[in-house]
Formats: sequence, structure tokens, C-alpha cells
Amino acid sequence: MAWTEASIPDLTGKVILVTGGNSGLGLETVKQLALHGAKVYVGARSESRAKQAINEILSQHPSIPKERMQWLPLDLENLQNVIEAAKILSTTESRLDVLVNNAGIGPETFITTKEGLEQTIGVNHVGHFVLTKSLLPLLKATAKVPGSDVRIVTVSSVAEKFAPKSNNFTSIKDLKDPGAANPNDYASRKATFKRYGASKLANILFTKELQNKLTQEDANITAITLDPGPVSTESGMGIFPGVLKPVLKLVMKSVAKGALTQLFCATAVEVAKNPDRYKGQFLNGPDKIDQPSDKARNRELARSLWRITEEALAEAGISTLP
Ligand SMILES: NC(=O)c1ccc[n+]([C@@H]2O[C@H](COP(=O)([O-])OP(=O)(O)OC[C@H]3O[C@@H](n4cnc5c(N)ncnc54)[C@H](OP(=O)(O)O)[C@@H]3O)[C@@H](O)[C@H]2O)c1
Repeated sequence: MAWTEASIPDLTGKVILVTGGNSGLGLETVKQLALHGAKVYVGARSESRAKQAINEILSQHPSIPKERMQWLPLDLENLQNVIEAAKILSTTESRLDVLVNNAGIGPETFITTKEGLEQTIGVNHVGHFVLTKSLLPLLKATAKVPGSDVRIVTVSSVAEKFAPKSNNFTSIKDLKDPGAANPNDYASRKATFKRYGASKLANILFTKELQNKLTQEDANITAITLDPGPVSTESGMGIFPGVLKPVLKLVMKSVAKGALTQLFCATAVEVAKNPDRYKGQFLNGPDKIDQPSDKARNRELARSLWRITEEALAEAGISTLP
């Protein structure tokens, strides 16, 4: 039988953070999690967009108690702010059952963050790296509670295959210019795809190395990554000319359907019953484990990405927990 919203179990008592929870796949994820009883933090950089999203859900579903959805100020490009967000959550809540690293960007121009990292990889990978590491004490504490089922879900994409072949995440410069583009070609569609692809490859490698570390420490946490498929969110359609939008809406997955893969990863009883089957895996549909590219399965690359991310943070004077 197909896995649908109706397959989501009762989540009463669980606390979940969804980054980029104010729009697209994140918004749908927040809605379904709250509808099934979880307390959900909407990690978003804009208070007005976060509150608008929460109010939209509440007006469609008045049965959801207001306090079940909270805005958590979170700008993944601002790493001090990310650490602050993790502190707020860790002092407000005594548990965090699921972290959904969902937010993502694919800017058409080459921009660098305050730390000098390219913005796509800065937000999609480094921001989530810092957030996850800063929340690990709370996640690990939750994992020690009997009967807990702690998961770290990171939304990647098949676009990981567009990552430039030359980028093997061997040094910090691979985060400063992950597209390894010709400086005269930073704004082409190809360069945008390469930067986006590198960030999505990093999401998979990050999950794999995170799972290795968690398993070595005997932490009872499942790290899992996924591709939602082509979904008709604003940014999902954004790479195509605007006139195609009506057609795209017909051929791409609806947002409700697209969000099912991350909802499966975050909540499915199948994962709880058999975590070893899912640990460190890449899914491209609910319960569909797939093999990402060779590069995404390269353990040395995963270790190297972790190392250079730590080095970039050290160079920027950002200290994360554990
Ligand atoms: N749609 C697809 O076809 C597709 C396919 C494969 C993978 N994905 C992945 O799915 C995830 C969700 O994408 P989507 O299609 O739902 O796109 P979306 O509607 O554009 O949502 C992206 C979310 O990320 C947030 N965000 C961007 N920069 C941020 C920052 N600096 N700090 C915090 N939040 C930030 C956005 O918030 P603002 O409103 O503030 O900008 C927004 O809530 C992404 O990781 C994307 O790569 C999507």
C-alpha cells in the first residue's frame, strides 16, 4: 500500500524543528507534523513569513492548537545566529526528536557569506552543519530517553550529480568556490547548477559521515537524506522560464506529494522498527532507498568534507559544540 499522509503515526509529545518551514516543502512538512500531534518549530529567517505560514496552517486547520507551531528565528547564512537559534531551542525544550534540515537556495549569482564561503554551500551545507552540531547535545539527550526515536533528516536532491567533477572537497577553497567555475561564467545556468549540485552532494556526504560518527559513539540516532523529486514549489519551478509554470504544475509533483519523502524519513514507523536499514541512506520516495552518485557514496570524500567544514569554521572563528 502506498505511503501517504494517513500513514504518519501519532506524534504527540514529539518536538521537531523544520528549517525553511515557512514555504514550499518545509511548510507542508510543518503542517503535516503539527496535524499529527507534534510540537513544531518553524526555523525561518523572516518573522513575518514564518508567522504568515503558521497563520495559514491555523486558518486551514483550526483544530491545531496555536502553541503547537512556534517560530524559531534562524538565518542559516548567519552562523552566529544559527548557534543562537540552537541555544534558544536547547534552553526552551528538554527534547528534540527530529531535526529536518530542509531549507535550501540556488542563487543565480556568485555571492559569498560573511565567512567568505560561497552562499549556496554556505546556507545549504555549512548552515545546517553548524545547526546540527549545535543541537547534537539535545538530540543525544533525547535519544537516551527510553522509547525515543531520534532522527536527523537532510533534504538533498538528485541534482547532486551536477556537482563539478573537479571538486573533491579537499580544501577550504572547495567551499569558497564549490562550482569551481570560470570567474567569467559565474552567472550562467550551468554555474548555478554546479554550485547547487555541490551543496546537495555535501548534504548526502554530511549525512553519511554524521551517521558514521553517531554509530561509532553508539548514539541511538538515525541520520537520513533524500531527494523529494521535482516538486512544483516556487523555487522548484524557478529554474524554468515563467511561461512554463502552468505546464510545470501539471507535470511536477504537487507540494503535498513531494513532501511525503521527508515526512516518511521524519516519522515512518518502518524506520523506527528497522533503523539499521535506513541509517545514512538516501531515499527518493517514501520507503524508496536509492543509490546516489559514486561520489556521494565515497567515505573518504565524506570525511574530507567534514574536515574542511570544521577548518572553515575554525578559520572564521566559529566554535560549534562537540
Ligand atoms: N522543489 C523541488 O523540486 C526540489 C527538488 C529537489 C530538492 N529540493 C530541496 O527541497 C528543499 C526545500 O525546497 P523548496 O522547493 O520547498 O523551496 P522553497 O519553497 O524556496 O523553500 C526554501 C526555504 O528555505 C528557506 N531559506 C532560504 N535561505 C535561508 C536562510 N538563509 N536561512 C533560513 N532559511 C532559509 C526559505 O526561506 P525564505 O522564505 O526566507 O526565503 C524557504 O523557507 C531545499 O533543500 C531544496 O534544495 C527541492
